[in-house]
Amino acid sequence: MSDIPTKRRAPFIGGNWKSKGIRKEITQLCAGLNDGAAPVQYLDVVVAPSFLHLGYVAEKLKRSFEISAQDCSQFNLGAFTGDLSATAIRDFGINWVILGHSERRNYHKESDEVVAGKIKLALKAGLRVIACFGEKLEERKAGTTEQVVLRQVKAICDAVQATGSFWNLVLAYEPVWAIGTGLAATKEQAQEVHALVRKYIAANYGARTAAKQRIIYGGSVKPKNATALYKQPDIDGFLVGGASLKAEQFLSIMSQVEDQFIAADAIKAKL
Ligand code: PGA
Repeated sequence: MSDIPTKRRAPFIGGNWKSKGIRKEITQLCAGLNDGAAPVQYLDVVVAPSFLHLGYVAEKLKRSFEISAQDCSQFNLGAFTGDLSATAIRDFGINWVILGHSERRNYHKESDEVVAGKIKLALKAGLRVIACFGEKLEERKAGTTEQVVLRQVKAICDAVQATGSFWNLVLAYEPVWAIGTGLAATKEQAQEVHALVRKYIAANYGARTAAKQRIIYGGSVKPKNATALYKQPDIDGFLVGGASLKAEQFLSIMSQVEDQFIAADAIKAKL
């Protein structure tokens, strides 16, 4: 358990649509989200469609949903065929970018250095960053989770410290073995890593930064496990993949978190 007792950080729910969906499905998803969305007061909700769908989704979705890119180039504007720079993303009116997702780290061989470089470019361009980290199954089995996670978190946080404010960072713990497998981390496993990271941030970047830092969990988050995970003291929300493509599931996760926050945190904060 973290020794930082309060949990009054605004909850954050991200929907990572990955490279999924053609226009027809994306249109239906947007309609489903718009129709079913109850007004949320405390929640930051951000969805990340593919680059091609960013503008389309930004136009279609209600304003209560913010939009994120899923990645940006490691280079700024320039002769980089096929790349999309952070500056161009921000110029398009997008506020967020996901960086360091394990699918980028693994399939595109993005190192901690590359991820850190992208974070610096994104923050300098005025984007806010959802930075992912997490161990692979073999690393967990080998007992190196802590080492891997803290190495990744250090690279992320050093980049933020060098260029921007931690206010513009959301950290996302995404154990690779839990992504897309239906095998979410247990609430205890997730809380253990979140508390470890918060402690590390307190020791290296300051207790106030640590207390305010939002750390969300990702990996097979579904309506059936959202409340139990969110109730953990160091889990501030979710990055949702598969279930974010089903409007009613994503909306259910959103309302469960909002309800928990109101019940457990907002009311306490008023006392
Ligand atoms: P999942 O994906 O919810 O489908 O496991 C999470 C993610 O990759 O962000």
